[in-house]
Amino acid sequence: ERGDRMTGKKVLITAGPTQEPLDPVRYITNHSSGRMGYALAEAAADRGAKVVLVSGPVNLDAPRGVEVVDVVTADQMWRAADSHMDADLGLFTAAVSDFAPVSMQDQKMKKEQGTEQMTIEMKKTPDILKHAGFHAKDMYVAGFAAETENVEAYALDKLKRKNADCIIMNDVSNPDIGMNSPDNEVVMLFRDGEPVPFEKMDKQSLASAIMDTLQDRWLD
Ligand code: PMT
Repeated sequence: ERGDRMTGKKVLITAGPTQEPLDPVRYITNHSSGRMGYALAEAAADRGAKVVLVSGPVNLDAPRGVEVVDVVTADQMWRAADSHMDADLGLFTAAVSDFAPVSMQDQKMKKEQGTEQMTIEMKKTPDILKHAGFHAKDMYVAGFAAETENVEAYALDKLKRKNADCIIMNDVSNPDIGMNSPDNEVVMLFRDGEPVPFEKMDKQSLASAIMDTLQDRWLD
């Protein structure tokens, strides 16, 4: 237990990957394990918050005292998150697929004889973080930026473009941190104020440190 400083506050967290179906047996996804988002949900619940965790498909148990809403696709994640835009704090940790196949084939796609290449038509998915940044008036909005190059420049660009209060910058080119690893190393960037860097540590400890920093910025 970390005290009750967040009692009476509602926290929305998205976590994990999404799966975008191509046909009944295939989908497009990524390596997110959900660990970072689940650790943040646990840290918020430990502090007394009411936590709604909108989760893509992962192999993790629901943290104690957290309401988990299971979803599969980016579209479903968007709809589930959109019904909790009244939260006081939003932490958008999910690795949401930016694009989804335009249509799902009803039957398993067949390998046509003589065809060496195929093209899949994709459409953009709704940007949940950006929506919260521009429309959730009373929410403190914190997103992540998973980058493999120009990490800081791209993260700062996301802070502005998505109208977030905070972006947590993650270099996912290093396999020892970030996606699907037990540890992470991030820098928190703020719309107002100096960046706050954290050394590499396990995701539970990091979640706790991130939550303490957010509380200091956002709770009086
Ligand atoms: O799940 P783990 O294995 O523990 O790994 C954790 C993590 C590396 C996935 C996590 O720390 C992280 O960096 N999450 C963000 C992953 C991501 O997709 O980043 P992005 O830079 O593509 O997206 C930027 C932000 O917009 C993110 O907050 C993302 O949740 C949000 N977004 C993106 C697209 C979309 N359609 N909707 C969104 O809300």
